[in-house]
Parts: sequence; C-alpha cells; structure tokens
Amino acid sequence: MKVDGVPHRTIWLAEDGWSVEIVDQTLLPHRFATVRLTSMAEAAEAIRSMQVRGAPLIGATAAYGMALAMAEDPSDESLQRAYETLMATRPTAVNLRWALDELHGLLAPLGANARAATAYVRAAEICAEDVALCRAIGEHGLPLIEHIAARKDGAPVRVLTHCNAGWLATVDWGTATAPIYMAHDKGLPLEVWVDETRPRNQGASLTAWELHHHGVPHTLIADNVGGHLMQNGLVDLCIVGTDRTTRNGDVCNKIGTYLKALAAHDNGVPFYVALPGPTIDWTLASGAEIPIEQRDAREVTHMTGRTAAGEIATVEIANPGSRAANYGFDVTPARLVTGLITERGVCEASPNGLASLYPDKAGD
Ligand code: MRU
Repeated sequence: MKVDGVPHRTIWLAEDGWSVEIVDQTLLPHRFATVRLTSMAEAAEAIRSMQVRGAPLIGATAAYGMALAMAEDPSDESLQRAYETLMATRPTAVNLRWALDELHGLLAPLGANARAATAYVRAAEICAEDVALCRAIGEHGLPLIEHIAARKDGAPVRVLTHCNAGWLATVDWGTATAPIYMAHDKGLPLEVWVDETRPRNQGASLTAWELHHHGVPHTLIADNVGGHLMQNGLVDLCIVGTDRTTRNGDVCNKIGTYLKALAAHDNGVPFYVALPGPTIDWTLASGAEIPIEQRDAREVTHMTGRTAAGEIATVEIANPGSRAANYGFDVTPARLVTGLITERGVCEASPNGLASLYPDKAGD
C-alpha cells in the first residue's frame, strides 16, 4: 500500500542481503521509521515489543528470525533455541506457530551448512505468499462491498473495522482492509468507521494512519460508539481480522471484537471476518481453547501521544493505586459471524463452511 504515494511493505530483506528491515509500528502515527533487525534476539524483541504486530506479520517476522538465527549459528542447538525463543514472544496469533513449524520442519533435516540459505528463501516465500493471500482475500471480499454499493445509489458504503487488520498487520494489503482498498481503488464511495481499539489504540494510530495515507475516507470513533452507529443504521458492514480461528469457525481477535459482533447481530448488520489460511488453527475444536494474551497493565493505566510541542510523552490516565487488567483478545462465537472471507472464497463460519474451502486441511 502507499505512504505518500510511495508503495511500501512492512518487512523486507535489507540491501546487505542478510539483515531484515521493518516499519517500527510503535512510532506510528507520529513517525514513519524503519528499523534493521540483525539477530534472532532482535526479531524476537520486535515481536514482543510490538514494533511488528498483527497475526500474519508476526509469522513473517518469526520466519526471518529463524533465518537470522541460522546466519548467526546454524547448529541444532541454535535452531531449537530460536524456535523456542520466538514461539514464546506472543501467545495468541497462531501464524507464529505456523511459520515456526514451517521453518523448523524444513531446516531440522538439513546439514548445518544449508540451513541459513534455505531459511532466507522460505522466509521470503512466506512474505510473498502472504501478499498473495491478502490480495485474494481482497478479491473475494470486494463483491460484498460492491453488492451493498449497488443498492446505495452513490452513497458511501459504511464499513466498521476494529483494531488494525490492515497492511501494517500483514506484509501488504491487510486482511480486513484488502476488500476496502480494492473497493476504494476501483472508485467505489466508502466511509470507514475506525474503532480506536484501546488500550494500545491500533485503530487510532495504525488503521487511521494507513487509510489516511492511501486516501480512503474514514472516521475515527471511540471503542463504545459502534453499537450506537449500528442501532441508527449508520453501518452497512463490519469487517475485522483474526489472530486465530478454530475449526468450528470461532474467531479470536483483538479485545472488543466480540462486543461489536453482538451489536451487529442485534441490529442485522453483516459481520465478516477476513483471514488467510495460516490463521486457522485446525488443532483446536473451539475458541474456548485459545490462549488469550494478558499484557502489562500499564497499557491500560497510561497513554502515549504527541504533545502540542511535538514531543512524544507518556502520561498516567488512571487512578494511581487501582488495579488494572489487560486482556488482549476475545473470542467471537461462530454463530455471530456472517461469513469468513478467505483466500479461497467466502464461507460460513462453521466446521462445514471451513471444510468446504479447505478439504485438504479439515480432514487432518
Ligand atoms: O495485538 P495485535 O496488534 O497484534 O492484534 C492484532 C489483531 O488483533 C488483528 O486484528 C489480527 O492480528 C488480524 S491482522 C490481519
């Protein structure tokens, strides 16, 4: 996607041919800066500190983390250490495990000398595949927007999204945003409602930033506004992403997604979830089994932003001395999901729906 007219991706191999560059998402929306990762430890820290985040991008960064580990030391011990260190960075997005299993399975049988080159090739392929998967999600989701646009007589289609499931959460295109970008690029009038997404404000700082830089009309709203908008007929469609979807179609995504799905269900607003195949956890029967990340309470009690003087500052917003809890994700039951938009098409959020698109995986 474009930043000030220039196409960008979120992760790429640096010019030196071995280190890896990322967009440092902790600095957005105030600064667009890239950071160079030169070791497996730095890749792990980038995931842990959320310089990179979003399920597909976490997977892509972990793949390059394995490559960096093999460039440092291709021994069996190093391979196992990299696998375990990267796996421990964040618990919920299953793309992390998918990418690490992929790399570990490929590298373990190889001789040490062949590991680094093979890891770099596979990491680059995972990134290229992610772009293709997200583009295909966009192509399958676009008709949903076109269908609504056809009955709106030129009025904008109003799409509500939560968190950042945009290109910043993937390598390019995004999942939830891919149909939005395609509709916009095709000239369809759109208005995107962007949930701020407390506590880390991925909507306010990331989704709003990327939509703005690509020229997509959008309006930022506080997290609790969506229900009111839906009650008043101001949302035509919700599209969100997911960090892990289980084989029954339950969807785990950023905290607050469930409440939007309830409001959508109550008001007859279609609620779609966009996801690539590697976000499906075929090993889990239902969302109740998904590990939910709990993060530092400081993300709830403090906020970081830019002062009028242009400085980045962190301030305390909560009563000092009160306990705070910080649950990162929630599970939306399949019954509240209108459909899953995947790279293979749109399906019902159900065991049969997923099996119809992924017969090769569902039988495992
Ligand atoms: O905590 P984050 O910012 O990594 O959470 C991201 C999300 O919840 C996204 O919606 C999800 O990863 C889908 S990304 C295409």
